[in-house]
Amino acid sequence: MNLVWETAAMSLPAILGGTPTRPQGPPAWPLADPEIREVFEQAFRDGWWGKYQAGQTERLETLLRDYHQVEHVLPCGSGNYAVELGLRALQIGPGAEVILADYDYPGNFLSVHAVGAIPVLVDIEPRNWNLSIEAVRSAIGPQTKAILASHLHGGRVAMRELMDLAREKGLVVLEDAAQAPGALIEGRRAGTWGDAGVFSFGGSKLLSAGRGGALLTRHAEVAQRARNHLVRAGNIVCPMTELQAALLVPQLKRLDERNQLRWGNVQVLCEAFADLPGVRPFVGPGEEALPAFYKLGMKIDQIAFGLPRDKIIAALRAEGFAVDEGFAAAHVTRSPKRFRQGSALAEAANAHANCIQVHHPILLETPDALRELAQGWRRIHEHADAIRNMMNDG
Ligand SMILES: Cc1ncc(COP(=O)(O)O)c(C=O)c1O
Repeated sequence: MNLVWETAAMSLPAILGGTPTRPQGPPAWPLADPEIREVFEQAFRDGWWGKYQAGQTERLETLLRDYHQVEHVLPCGSGNYAVELGLRALQIGPGAEVILADYDYPGNFLSVHAVGAIPVLVDIEPRNWNLSIEAVRSAIGPQTKAILASHLHGGRVAMRELMDLAREKGLVVLEDAAQAPGALIEGRRAGTWGDAGVFSFGGSKLLSAGRGGALLTRHAEVAQRARNHLVRAGNIVCPMTELQAALLVPQLKRLDERNQLRWGNVQVLCEAFADLPGVRPFVGPGEEALPAFYKLGMKIDQIAFGLPRDKIIAALRAEGFAVDEGFAAAHVTRSPKRFRQGSALAEAANAHANCIQVHHPILLETPDALRELAQGWRRIHEHADAIRNMMNDG
């Protein structure tokens, strides 16, 4: 962000009519649930917070297994580590190619490199800016061994189609559900379609333990290989702590109810945004239930909206909303020596330039908060000329 705009952004609420749309600012995360306080009090009272083992991680494993209807769950230190662990457990190593979306969580590109494999970048669906199965099909080559599929920004990859393709071509699939815990895809939980699935419990995630992740699989041999990487001389290399595990238990119990609430609010938001030019949510009201929204992806058309993306983000923040740019497409930020291009990347380039993410906490508020969000965008759009002039005068 340039200095001129930073100065200008401070006077933005004045331009927009006195007070920001949301003067109280964005809602806090994580939530102050009484069950969370109870975990901290119990851990302190009973003294297990600093122990290697206190039954909490095992309890979480059992709950995650039951919830996802899979046989094997391995909690670990982060989602990033779970991706790397998953690739290793699926026997992806030097020389192997892994197909993934050009527009993806950037750490995934690096995790492919971490195991010595080669990323093959493919395009995303115009519909929801998630991995395109057609692009995957066109990218498969003789060295291709795996597909890494991430559900992003409330969208979902078409997993049945992807698994059919993978089976046909003899490939394995690692499904990254870090952003979509509890989401359903044709009635099955995200993360359980692939040969292995990944979750993240980082500080901003829907299930938050500050840090943490997990690998899920229904295949005993994949789980065994993952365990061999994860455990050294009886000690876990990149562990989740007992306290982290205990904090996740009450959140997992409320996940479905909260995903439902978020989805209801996204539908309100879709309606409120319907006639706003230059901005569309990734998912529409006709979407299959039940998505999960870590960040709600918004596609913008900067010309139709009347402002460049960084200015829209600055203006929205000044209006009291938590928004960010989307991810950087890998083909833009990484050397071409470090990947093979598997398809045209036009939609990924579009997402790279035109995605804005709305942080999820507002999706647990009342429908009025979502109408306020739409109102904030509308005010900015209506004042686009004044905001532009202010920037230029800056
Ligand atoms: C899709 C996706 N995969 C993996 C990760 C990495 O998770 P962690 O932050 O727990 O390492 C993230 C984090 O945002 C993510 O969005």
